[in-house]
Amino acid sequence: VLCDIGFIGLGVMGKNLVLNLADNGYKIAAFDLSSEKVNDVILQDQQENNSDTPRVHGCSSYTELLSQLKPPHLIVLSVPAGAPVDQVCENLIGAGIGADDIVIDTGNSLWMDTVAREKKYKNNFILFSSAVSGGEVGARFGPALMPSGSAYAWTRIKPIWEAISAKVDPETGKPLERTRPGEVVNTGDPCAAYIGPAGAGHYVKMVHNGIEYADMQIIGEAYHILRSGLGLSTDEIADIFEKWHQGPLDSYLMEITVEVLRQKSSDTGTSLVDLILDKAGQKGTGLWTAVSSLEVGCPAPTISQAVYARSISSFKDFRVQAAKQLTGPAAASFTPQEQADFIDRLHDAIYSAKICVYAQGFQLMKLAAKEHNWSLNFASIAKIWRAGCIIRAVFLQPITEAFQRNEDLENLLLDDFFAGQLNAHQGNWRKAVAEATLLGIPVGALSSALSYYDSMRAEVLPANLLQGQRDFFGAHTFERVDKPAGKKYHVQWSSPERQTVEIPPVQ
Ligand code: 6PG
Repeated sequence: VLCDIGFIGLGVMGKNLVLNLADNGYKIAAFDLSSEKVNDVILQDQQENNSDTPRVHGCSSYTELLSQLKPPHLIVLSVPAGAPVDQVCENLIGAGIGADDIVIDTGNSLWMDTVAREKKYKNNFILFSSAVSGGEVGARFGPALMPSGSAYAWTRIKPIWEAISAKVDPETGKPLERTRPGEVVNTGDPCAAYIGPAGAGHYVKMVHNGIEYADMQIIGEAYHILRSGLGLSTDEIADIFEKWHQGPLDSYLMEITVEVLRQKSSDTGTSLVDLILDKAGQKGTGLWTAVSSLEVGCPAPTISQAVYARSISSFKDFRVQAAKQLTGPAAASFTPQEQADFIDRLHDAIYSAKICVYAQGFQLMKLAAKEHNWSLNFASIAKIWRAGCIIRAVFLQPITEAFQRNEDLENLLLDDFFAGQLNAHQGNWRKAVAEATLLGIPVGALSSALSYYDSMRAEVLPANLLQGQRDFFGAHTFERVDKPAGKKYHVQWSSPERQTVEIPPVQ
């Protein structure tokens, strides 16, 4: 019997996606350069599958993989972003892949690479992309999927993607959990919706990751304040986060943070997080989001700050040295009441900063979509992020509703619900940032979000002075608030009269 889907790349994500596809009734031909990984997935399938018919057929070459598939072939790639994707594509061409065949790249590819690949391979096969979010558990039991590319290819992929994706209860907006091998969830809203043409899906996944970086950094800053500023134990902090997780901060990242904080080292028996080296890794998607925000000209300072925070963390030796030379404020002490109030304010600070992070991410997608002629549906994007992915959170439900109320919403800050939340919490947010700063605890994400909020709501910014400076040293001209828009002026700075003259428009 021929297989429904070919699968290349059986790392952690690949293996789990294969088993997820198999649970949903698809027969898979699986290939990896490592025959050990091929054997591993076959073995796991045998252990989990109660029937005598194997659901996964192991292949030892690209040619064998193609020969095992129903035509036109549907092949899913789960290989590292970058050169490996092209290597696999070239190997598939060498093995005789056809122009009607579809290859789905599920990695975190750079969106521009995806656009280029779709063109490059268009005479050989249809390159489709679908970023996957949710880590290994998501891949196994229901990820969020961000498919994009040929609309024809999507018609073939849609039923499969909707079957394997995470599902959300349409009434509550909460995930419908699936936790056991063999289990499938056929009801609920699938976290898989067509995003747009080639590149759009990877762009949206890139922004998801940028938001993920900022969400993690904000939680990290709260932990830092509670641990170093208030001197709480990791278990006490876990208790606070657990309580916060009951309210609007209910999210997967908050939930796993509690688990990480509670974890004891199996050898020392002490808090594991205290033993983990404070140098953060990164694979690039947060950086790409920050770079794109600069290129598009859409402010995303909290996402960029989260990338900087990871870079700063990597300067460990420098920091150890500088800690001996540079002083901060003296340690402060708090009464139990002061401490409790501070913790409440911190909650509001995190919530408000989180709203700004999503405002930045969604506006970035909106402006990028305009630039690249993608028609993105933001309610649908917020909807597919409600379950399966790393940034899943109850918070995505009001975002979904905000874009359902107004599909042209320019920025979440202007949505009545979120504006109301920010208005209610901004006072506590300011105090928390100020208090952390007085304690000498770096809060780059919390404070950059606050500056973003204050800048975006400011009718007047000091860019008038800046324009004056630019005109002084470079005759860059400026517009005036008391004259019609678009008219340009320049001061003859070097003449004794320093006359302001109108500059005629360039023909
Ligand atoms: C996801 C994650 C996943 C991964 C990233 C981030 O959505 O499932 O975003 O794609 O964790 O690669 O990794 P770094 O923190 O290493 O950049």
